Order: sequence, then structure tokens, then C-alpha cells
Amino acid sequence: MTILEMFEQKLRRDPKTIVFPEGTDGRILEAASRLLAANFLKPVLLGKKDQIMDAAEEAGFNIRGAEIIDPVTYEKLDEMIDLLVELRREKGMDKEAARKALEHPNYFGTMMVKMGMADSMLSGLTYSASDTLLPALQIIRTKPGRNLVSSCYVLDRANATGENTTLVMADCAINIDPTEDQLIEICADTITCAKAFGVEPKVAFLSYSTNGSGKGESVDKMHNAAQRAKAMYPMELIEGEMQMDAAVSPNVAKLKFPNSKVAGYANTFIFPNVTSANIGYKIAARMGNFNVYGPLLLGLNGRINGLSRGANAQEVYTMACITAAGVE
Ligand SMILES: CC(C)(COP(=O)(O)OP(=O)(O)OC[C@H]1O[C@@H](n2cnc3c(N)ncnc32)[C@H](O)[C@@H]1OP(=O)(O)O)[C@@H](O)C(=O)NCCC(=O)NCCS
Repeated sequence: MTILEMFEQKLRRDPKTIVFPEGTDGRILEAASRLLAANFLKPVLLGKKDQIMDAAEEAGFNIRGAEIIDPVTYEKLDEMIDLLVELRREKGMDKEAARKALEHPNYFGTMMVKMGMADSMLSGLTYSASDTLLPALQIIRTKPGRNLVSSCYVLDRANATGENTTLVMADCAINIDPTEDQLIEICADTITCAKAFGVEPKVAFLSYSTNGSGKGESVDKMHNAAQRAKAMYPMELIEGEMQMDAAVSPNVAKLKFPNSKVAGYANTFIFPNVTSANIGYKIAARMGNFNVYGPLLLGLNGRINGLSRGANAQEVYTMACITAAGVE
């Protein structure tokens, strides 16, 4: 079963709704028409009804059955404004500021998720990553017991053997320079996400040093975080610090990190910072010819994800299924 089929199957058993703030984008309309035909994930499109219907007709996509909501004329807008004020009062938000914020479809869509009017939201074809992230961070916030929202990418490739290689990499998109404590949270949430994709996680905390071969602040950070994560999650396979070659090459692992159950066979990678993680997953994806899923938000108390601006309709459809089915 492919990754997409796994999430589609989950939704068939438990159908959901997803709100798309970019309701007039052709890629959203194409994905929405496919979702409507599949009948397990109901799309809610934000925007002006006539504009959305015209755009769909022009592009030739049948979106009959999709719910269309115009944030400007929405009948429960006052209720939404009141709740947003309540949630953000401490940050100085009054009714006027809330009304203004809700003119932005990402704030409106995020509030729909907060109020339980939609199960999930997917946005980002025309907005920056932080345009999608900030409303989620401010309104949905972290899951109980968590202090951090982070992110990971899943990379998947079919091998000649017929089996797939599936790798998970974090945090590639949000936390610029995570602390030891934050790396442990990122590790825990990445493990959960890996399992949702059918991966049995073998987690490597990556560095330019393997098992004490190098020195430096960042080496200490990765070493300490790995040791603490191991102690906190004794049932999981976690190891670090190690270099990428020791993580994935059994021969190098034998030399550099003997007796490790992770080294040589790692499939889940925790990077020291967003720079290395973002560059790392892109090198792997481009050079290794992987399909990429993400960024997937972790630790958020609701199902919201961002799309890359270059995403096509197939990627929107896949991310919609993953987002609505959830990876937590
Ligand atoms: C995620 C990001 C947008 C947050 O922006 P920011 O300017 O740091 O946000 P702020 O510090 O103003 O925080 C805004 C709110 O989000 C919360 N927040 C910020 N980062 C958070 C995190 N990682 N986890 C949980 N909450 C977080 C803050 O607590 C704050 O809440 P409050 O308004 O209730 O006090 C920023 O870290 C960022 O740009 N990261 C890199 C994203 C990027 O460019 N990725 C590129 C690859 S896609």
C-alpha cells in the first residue's frame, strides 16, 4: 500500500472536513474536485462564491458539493470575533483587530478549526510559511503537555526490491536553533509521525561528530539530547550523536559506532538546527529521487499544515489527506 493509500484508507474509515483558505487557486479546485469524487474528505473553500464557481468552471473542475464560505459575509462572524478576542486579549487584541485579522483567510480558516467547524486546514500555495504558521501557533497552540510546535518531512522511494525506503527528517522548517529540551520534544513527535507513516523509527541525532569523535557546543547539544531522549523513551531506538555516514552505512557504523542498534540503519533523523535540516532533506530528496511529504507540523493541537508554493494539484490532494487523517 502506498503512503497516500494508507491515509485515504484512514479517512474512509473516519471521514473528515478540510478548509482551504485559497479557494480560488486552480490547484486547490482540482484537488477539491478529486476529494469530492472520493467522498471521504469534504473540502470547504474560502472566498467569494461566484469567483470560486467561475474559476472552477473555467478550469473545468466539478466542485458541486463543496462548501463555500465567504469570510466577509459569514453569518457567525461575530461569534468568531468574540472567541478570537477572548483567545488573544492578553496580547492586546480587541474586536476591531480581531475583525481585521479574520479578513485574512488563514486566520479565518484557523478559527474554523479552533471552533470545530472544520477538522483540518491546508494553506500556503500563495502565502509564505509564516503566514500559515503564525495563526496556528497563536490560536491552536501546542498539544497539552507540549511546549513546542516543530515540523518534519517524510521522504519515500520505491526500491528495485519492491520495498520502499521511507525516511523522516526534523525539524526542517520551524525552530531555527532548538535547545536540548526542544530536540527531545522534536524527537518524540517525530517518532509518532514516523509510525503514522508505517516506519519503525530508528532515530539518529545527527552531528559532525560520531560517538565523541569531535568536540563543540553543537556536538554536546546533540549528544546530551540523544542520551536524555533515550532515557525518556526506553522502548524506542534512539542514538547519538553521530554523523550521517555512520547513521546510514552499516560499514561505517561498524567502525565508528559499534554495538549501536541504530547506527548504519537509521531512518529517522534529528538535525541540530533548521539550516542543516532544511538543506539536508532537500539534498536527500533531489539527489535521492524521493517523493516528499511535508512540512508536517508536529506538536500542534490541531490538524493544520502548510503547502509549498510550487505544489501541484496532486501534492495538494496528498497533503490534504495526510493533514485531515493526522499524524499524531
Ligand atoms: C515559526 C515562526 C514563523 C514564528 O515566528 P516568530 O516571529 O518567531 O513568532 P513570535 O516569536 O512572534 O511568536 C508568535 C507566537 O507563536 C508562538 N510560537 C513561536 N514559535 C513557536 C513554536 N516553535 N512552538 C510553539 N509556539 C511558538 C509564540 O509563543 C507566540 O505566541 P503568542 O503570540 O501567543 O505569544 C518563525 O520561527 C520562523 O519564521 N521560522 C522559520 C520558518 C521558515 O522560514 N521556514 C522555512 C522553511 S519552510
